[in-house]
Amino acid sequence: MNALKPKVSIIGAGSVGSTFAYTLMMSGLAREIVLIDKDELRAQGECMDLNHGLSFARPAKIYAAGFEGCAESDIVVVTAGAKQIPGQTRIDLCQKNVEIFKGIIPSIVRYAPESILLVVSNPVDILTYVTMKISGFPSSKVIGSGTVLDSSRFKYLISEHCKTDPRNIHAYIIGEHGDSELPVWSNANIGGMLLEKYCLICNHLCDNKVAWDNIFEEVKTAAYKIIEAKGGTYYAIALALGRIVEAILRDENSILPVSTLINGYYGVNDVCLSIPSKVNRSGVENFLALELSDVEQKQFKHSADTLQEIIKHIQF
Ligand code: 2OP
Repeated sequence: MNALKPKVSIIGAGSVGSTFAYTLMMSGLAREIVLIDKDELRAQGECMDLNHGLSFARPAKIYAAGFEGCAESDIVVVTAGAKQIPGQTRIDLCQKNVEIFKGIIPSIVRYAPESILLVVSNPVDILTYVTMKISGFPSSKVIGSGTVLDSSRFKYLISEHCKTDPRNIHAYIIGEHGDSELPVWSNANIGGMLLEKYCLICNHLCDNKVAWDNIFEEVKTAAYKIIEAKGGTYYAIALALGRIVEAILRDENSILPVSTLINGYYGVNDVCLSIPSKVNRSGVENFLALELSDVEQKQFKHSADTLQEIIKHIQF
């Protein structure tokens, strides 16, 4: 039977996969949603629960399946893998999740060779690179969720500090989705005014250097705090995924800091990490070669070197 279009398959029916399925169902973006998990019963249970809310959403065919269920997907979203537990970094999950991906990616490629792959599992930048290599897909069609979530955390915290709607804040976290990420303060702006300038005219009398350091520290440690408090993060990442999927399915040419293959940018080559990039129906069209300050350039290079060092030592 032909798939209903657009079709999105989700690998992994854990908290991230199933919360994303819920977000996707509520958005009405996909006509067919498939949940695939090695725990078939769990995937079936999540689908039953979602289907029982369909009369409050828009029509969609939602079901659990094996990998053959990926066939004809427009996008396959990979959330499967070990998740961080308190005290672990994202990088600590590396070899274990690479092993899991070695099993999963060939099955996706077999059934959905035309799809776009959206990698979410951590460490997302490493797994995006590994997925690109294992799948043999062009780099434009392998996207990592990257720092879309971190940038949203960043905008939220700036918005709270500056008492401004987060939608009017344009600011990016780039590099690794993890401990070596960096904030691009040099071009952060509120409604088109550089944040530096905005701080001069704002009457809140804060010490903006201290405030900026605190904001970035909050962004970087956010996931650790949430994992400590409730065992995992899933609402905001599900919304971030919804935004990326929307940009793809609606061919939006949106600029999003997804993880993508970087070559020839401030001396960085052959590594996946996040830079604001144009996302549309073909996947990632290109990344924007943002002008970075000297400090940001060094931090960015350090982030890329950190990831490359890890890639050197993994088997895939
Ligand atoms: C997050 O940043 C754990 O990577 C996940 O929420």
